[in-house]
Amino acid sequence: MTEYVLFSCVALALLTCKLGFVSTCIFCCSLFQTSNSLAFLLYNLARSPDKQDKLRAEVTRVLPRDGHMTTEHLNRLPYMKACVKESMRLYFPVVIAASRILAEDAVLGGYLVPKGTCVINCNNISCLQSEYFPNPHTYSPERWMKEDNVQPHPFLMLPFGHGPRMCLGKRFAEQQMYIAVSKLVQNFTIQHTGSEDIGITYTSFGKPDEPLGLTVTPRSNNVLQEKH
Ligand code: HEM
Repeated sequence: MTEYVLFSCVALALLTCKLGFVSTCIFCCSLFQTSNSLAFLLYNLARSPDKQDKLRAEVTRVLPRDGHMTTEHLNRLPYMKACVKESMRLYFPVVIAASRILAEDAVLGGYLVPKGTCVINCNNISCLQSEYFPNPHTYSPERWMKEDNVQPHPFLMLPFGHGPRMCLGKRFAEQQMYIAVSKLVQNFTIQHTGSEDIGITYTSFGKPDEPLGLTVTPRSNNVLQEKH
């Protein structure tokens, strides 16, 4: 509820303080983008109960049940970050993550590309290629964990773009997802009851191509008891 009030206030403030219609659109659309990514994340966790349990164990170990999440907590939740990243790999949130007009000639993949050409980084394709990600259609947050020696190349997966024009809301969006998923798995069991193999459809942003069937069941206090 607080978030909706905050959302409305910021949107209203942007409109009235002459930052203008465009910034309001960017802000509002971006929030929908975050919620779509969160929806896919819950769907992936619901379909992988073992990953969900592993995530719950990490969150329960680190995060007080009724407390706020701090930077210090975030630094101790590597599996949670891997879960988010892996979900965005499987369901890449945008069609075009970064596109740039070349300021000078460049050789890309052995081809000379003249300056002035618009180059589009097709991360939504590279993210699902088996040469970069073994078993590319499997939800496996472990592939992003530091203990895994072979980490994917960071440029294969840039959902927020890169460089000076990268997404301004990256930290904001990530933290919203971190807080939401942590609190949800800490307090609820999430099960998948909808149809199999939900796809992603793109307008500007990616969203589920049919409604997600998720059942959220409160966890008993015994299960929630923290072991500090
Ligand atoms: C999952 C959520 C989000 C994703 C995947 C996302 C993705 C992106 C991408 C790919 C770009 C282009 C970056 C580039 O060209 O290198 C971008 C730009 C931008 N994003 Fe986001 N975004 C998200 C959430 C947000 C939020 C919540 C906000 C604001 C509150 C926001 C504000 C912006 C702005 C202002 C730009 C333009 C930056 C510039 O051109 O300098 N985004 N976003």
